[in-house]
Amino acid sequence: MKITAPILNINNLSLSHIMCGIFGYIGNKTNAQNIVLDGLRSLEYRGYDSWGIASLLNSGKITVTKNTGKIGNIKLESTFNSNQALGHTRWATHGGVTVRNAHPHLDCKHNLALIHNGIIENYESLKKKLIKDGHVFRSETDSETAVHLIEEYLKTDSLENAVFKAFNQFEGLNAIIVLDASSRSFAAAKNGSPLVIGQGNGENFLASDAHAILPYTNKIYFMDDSELVTINNKAIRVVKLKDKSVKKHKFQIINWKIKKAEKGSLPHFMLKEIYDQKEVLDYINRHQSEDIIKYARLISESFGSYLVGCGSAAYACLAGTYIFSRIAKKHINFSVASEFGYLVDFLTPKSLVIGLSQSGETIDLLDALKKAKEKKAVISSMVNVLGSTLYRYSDHKLLLNAGLERAVVSTKAFTAKLAYLLLIAFQISGRLRQGKKELSLAIKELDAIFNAEFLSGLKNIVNRIYNKEHLYIIGRGVSYPIALETAMKIKEASYIHAEGFAGGELKHGVIALIEKGTPCIAFVPNDETYFDTLSGVMEIKARGGYMIGIGYKNNNVFDEFINTQDCKSASVIPNVIIGQLLGYYLSVRRGLDPDKPRNLAKSVTVK
Ligand code: F6R
Repeated sequence: MKITAPILNINNLSLSHIMCGIFGYIGNKTNAQNIVLDGLRSLEYRGYDSWGIASLLNSGKITVTKNTGKIGNIKLESTFNSNQALGHTRWATHGGVTVRNAHPHLDCKHNLALIHNGIIENYESLKKKLIKDGHVFRSETDSETAVHLIEEYLKTDSLENAVFKAFNQFEGLNAIIVLDASSRSFAAAKNGSPLVIGQGNGENFLASDAHAILPYTNKIYFMDDSELVTINNKAIRVVKLKDKSVKKHKFQIINWKIKKAEKGSLPHFMLKEIYDQKEVLDYINRHQSEDIIKYARLISESFGSYLVGCGSAAYACLAGTYIFSRIAKKHINFSVASEFGYLVDFLTPKSLVIGLSQSGETIDLLDALKKAKEKKAVISSMVNVLGSTLYRYSDHKLLLNAGLERAVVSTKAFTAKLAYLLLIAFQISGRLRQGKKELSLAIKELDAIFNAEFLSGLKNIVNRIYNKEHLYIIGRGVSYPIALETAMKIKEASYIHAEGFAGGELKHGVIALIEKGTPCIAFVPNDETYFDTLSGVMEIKARGGYMIGIGYKNNNVFDEFINTQDCKSASVIPNVIIGQLLGYYLSVRRGLDPDKPRNLAKSVTVK
């Protein structure tokens, strides 16, 4: 695959505070509102509290549709024609989840519609002044301040000048797009949050993610921070927010093969993405040797390597430390990204910091890498989204090739990370072939897991535990991060309080929580941890715990046993996939939507 995304200038790396999806269309088509709705649908994983679309009618009036909740299968009425519209899916920060607070926001005269990602930290003082000057506010958001301030400047200035003056007054990290009915154009400015422009034939697009634009055009411009763009259906002009000097922007032809994520006959994306793992892992095992060899060299030649990530990606990092120690006999450090900034004092220009991320937009990780870069460390990434901020920011990168993840709960990107870490560790130890053989065992084992009879066994277990409040999961060695990840899947998808522990830690406190019938899961693969973990299982059992084992060999201490074949070092993969399936089935059994858990968003760009 040809990679054409630009490298980011470090000074331009912004740390955004937002997790909303934005999409704008201007051009020769007359159903702009539906194009925007489709765009928002593909971006909804970025936030799904509420959504809204503003369309410019031929009469010059702006009409707005807003709603709380998810977009779902909603269809917009086509009683009007519009060739310019913009929309937003919200993840609330300032102001509750209400229709009034949903974006777009209008100015007093309904000549402007604005969408905003970020937090205008000084909005209160700006708002006070605007109210004094006669502006009427209709929402509780900080965002509405932006549209009134631009309205104020538009009394004497052009759209570009008005946005320039207004945006430069905002404190915090922000991105806005404003639709101006009078000039029939858009202006967009950012110093945070990704913003991408697509140029089609007589039409232009704006979005927070390139993949939302790619169905229409592959001519893409990734806006840098501190830029202001004005767009109509013919021209695009980029100026710098510092001094309004014109920037010669260059569109890139992006040849990404974006496979449209369709869940087909499956009820949820989460299940579809769990099933995708067989294909993803097989692709990595067969086709990625060149990248693996390069990356192994990078790690071998560095003087101290640090794996850094958030959430599930952090658990993949932690698994990496065990994998590298065992297979490559190499020490590699690990930190959750939000803590890494407090650990950077010992970094040198020879240090290698490896960021693991599905989205490539996670603020805590970008922040950590920025601090590492200030120490002149080498930055590399294993990332799933091509062209993401992390991808462009890294000196070295390895694409996970897991394909688009639409479910908020991450699954296939996690096992893709594990597969790469395993193969890189084997390559460092000069045994890549052996690594591939072991990974093949895991891939083969997935046929047994994705089998109707096996899945119905899992569902039976779920039926027995779905109404419990607490669930504890233990594992030792590399199964410890697998226990953490399984707990994460169960928490996110089913809202059951699930905690993962290192098996040996149980008796140092957690065992106080075990009562008669408390469900506990133990990972017992065929490795050096088997007997030690089993003794923890006995201790839980002696206190009345309901024990579920996952591993290669049953033992009568287990109340339930989920049998997976021994896949040697790659056993982590089938084991964690069983954890994902338990999370999924628990969610469905509890009547929840596993694709969009409450309070979460796919791209966590809030600090
Ligand atoms: C878990 C999950 C999150 C992410 C975390 C990092 O299912 O999705 O814990 O793993 O927010 O996100 P990325 O990998 O996009 O940096």
